[in-house]
Amino acid sequence: MLTPADFIRKELKTVHRYPMICAFAHNWERIEKFQWRPDDIVIATYPKSGTTWISEIVDMIQNHGDAEKCSREAIYNKVPMLELSAPGVRTSGTEALEKMPSPRLVKTHLPVDLIPKDLWKNNCKIIYMARNAKDVAVSYYYFHLMNKLLPYPNSWAEYLEAYMTGKVPYGSWFAHVKKWWDKKEEYPMLYLFYEDMKENPKKEIVKVMQFLGMSLGEEVLEKIIHHTSFEMMKGNPLLNFTKIPSVMMDHDASCFMRKGTIGDWKNYFTVAQNEIFDVIYEKEMAGTSLKFCTEI
Ligand code: A3P
Repeated sequence: MLTPADFIRKELKTVHRYPMICAFAHNWERIEKFQWRPDDIVIATYPKSGTTWISEIVDMIQNHGDAEKCSREAIYNKVPMLELSAPGVRTSGTEALEKMPSPRLVKTHLPVDLIPKDLWKNNCKIIYMARNAKDVAVSYYYFHLMNKLLPYPNSWAEYLEAYMTGKVPYGSWFAHVKKWWDKKEEYPMLYLFYEDMKENPKKEIVKVMQFLGMSLGEEVLEKIIHHTSFEMMKGNPLLNFTKIPSVMMDHDASCFMRKGTIGDWKNYFTVAQNEIFDVIYEKEMAGTSLKFCTEI
């Protein structure tokens, strides 16, 4: 019987060659055996790419902009994370999803290779949201400081080295965004960018709405934009993770809703770190048509 002491601040484990959060790695068969349903809507991201944001947008669209209906549960209960496991603290993602009525919203950070294979046969709708590598690095660093399921990151320099070489939970950012990008050639999905959502939320929300086969009027769209703005989400206890117990998240170390901006990386990367990062970036991203914006 596992207890929080078995997985708090533990080293990463390896699952099919990917570094994985220790608590999530045990009993991996539960993921492999997961039963998708054809009407599942899957929200896939590399961590810290705006998962919570796009999840709430999708829920608001599904509920025709009714913020009250969207307040039925905290985000992590209404959009369970497939691979989550924290025995003694939270119900696992697979258990929560099994009990959920359809249509389910399923959150996952899994790389394409680790997705339970049945997904591709079930024709589920998939929305992937990507965010530029440098802002993700900073956001992920702060997340390591506050989320005790992850190993302690030590210094920013030490953490950045691990991030650049893919020695962080879910592995390399480069592989994640590229493999999902390539997957959309064979499996139709909506691939979105955090930066586009930030710059023109209405345009991106309309894309999501159309992808979900819905049609909503101007007034409803405005409600969704307002309800899912950074300021509103930061102040909403159902969306800002403040109700997650301190055994799992140290809310004094960092807020979950930290800054929500494009280009915050400039406040953390030294000139030398940026130069090294750019060289790795060029090499890793050579040959892909995937393009990111790192500043406004
Ligand atoms: P920062 O740490 O840069 O502030 P995820 O939900 O995938 O864990 O991503 C968390 C990141 O998304 C955090 O980034 C958080 O502030 C940002 N975020 C959450 N809601 C947002 C919103 N409505 N607008 C902009 N950014 C948002």
